[in-house]
Amino acid sequence: MHPLRQAPTSAIRDVIDFLRGETGFIYTAKARELSKKGFKVINFGVGQPDFPTPKHIVEEAKKALDDGFTGYTEVAGIPELRQAIAEYLNERYGSDVKPDEVIVTPGAKAALFLAFAAYIRPGDEVIIPDPSYYVYPEITKFLGGKPVYVPLKWLGSERGFELDVDAIEKAITSKTRAVVINNPHNPTGALFTPKEITKIFEIATERNILVIVDEIYDNFVYEGDFKSFISFENWRDYVVYTNGLSKTFSMTGWRLGYLVVRREIASRLTKLAVNVWTCATSFVQRAGVKALKGDWGPVKEMIETFRRRRDIMVSELSKIDGVAVWRSRGAFYLYPNIRKVLDKLDTDVETFANRLLEEKHVVLLPGTVFSETDFGRNFIRLSFALNEELIVEGVNRLKSFIYEHKKL
Ligand SMILES: Cc1ncc(COP(=O)(O)O)c(C=O)c1O
Repeated sequence: MHPLRQAPTSAIRDVIDFLRGETGFIYTAKARELSKKGFKVINFGVGQPDFPTPKHIVEEAKKALDDGFTGYTEVAGIPELRQAIAEYLNERYGSDVKPDEVIVTPGAKAALFLAFAAYIRPGDEVIIPDPSYYVYPEITKFLGGKPVYVPLKWLGSERGFELDVDAIEKAITSKTRAVVINNPHNPTGALFTPKEITKIFEIATERNILVIVDEIYDNFVYEGDFKSFISFENWRDYVVYTNGLSKTFSMTGWRLGYLVVRREIASRLTKLAVNVWTCATSFVQRAGVKALKGDWGPVKEMIETFRRRRDIMVSELSKIDGVAVWRSRGAFYLYPNIRKVLDKLDTDVETFANRLLEEKHVVLLPGTVFSETDFGRNFIRLSFALNEELIVEGVNRLKSFIYEHKKL
């Protein structure tokens, strides 16, 4: 008999099975099935702009292909793109990033993976504001670390969400390796204030912990001041910074992101990158240079459109009894508290989302997608990356769903 009880292919590590996947994609798959059956599905679950990638960027990729720019590139990215990224950050945030502190990655997720893989050892604690983008806790667990959740403060529909800086400080132990800050914030649409960001940076320097930064929504700011972690003079000692082109330039499928970290670490991280993906796609990198250095007009137009949509969505949702919606300041999401609705319907947020999809063909994400704790049970996330007509119709369907039922 074979000494192994399992077939080798079954001997997959348990940790893989425990990873939470992108539930958003599961809802989208269900929505696609309904669409195929001929239903008009309205999808508030999407995490990507509904605009096409600007034409000049597409043309540049085509040109790179025609030029035969199709081989491997430098592991850390083509020099022109690393330079363009450094210039973009420095111009925008007054920083002094050098091109050799930039690593280009296939999407921001890959940059996040590099950041976590480089620093998180088994047993390390990683402080994560709750709710959060699901990748941070899942990669932490994959690496043997422990997510330590610190809830955001929910201050109601007038004031929205705040970082609980004191609670973050209190959560630090001798095992804390890092705190993760995503600003503007997915899923709440919060824009943390310069004061909150500065305080987190001070705590990191005093307590000697790393800040893993995700600023992928840095162009999606509708009001208020945005303070980037890369703008602190001594960021090099405390910050691993990630960002990407996916959202800003409507390039989610192109897979282009980047990580910024001090030079010595960057050169060591390329050793990990070369073992996993070698380099980001060659012609996509050329298009990335064009995106950063070319015409920003389409991006500006998109942000203005998103601002209008956000306002319409807030005003429509506010008309529904029991929905407490805060006008988000960043990203392209609203994160209303629907506790009263759930109590009235005597149901939980996941059943609510599933039934809404089945009966009204409206996709939204239950807050539990972004939270392993109780926090998510009271909230839903809606993306406003769809046109105004669909927003109004979708919220109307949501409203009639809530009013038509006494109990789910
Ligand atoms: C907060 C946050 N970070 C990172 C990403 C991933 O970006 P990319 O598609 O470039 O990997 C997303 C995508 O939804 C996100 O919301």
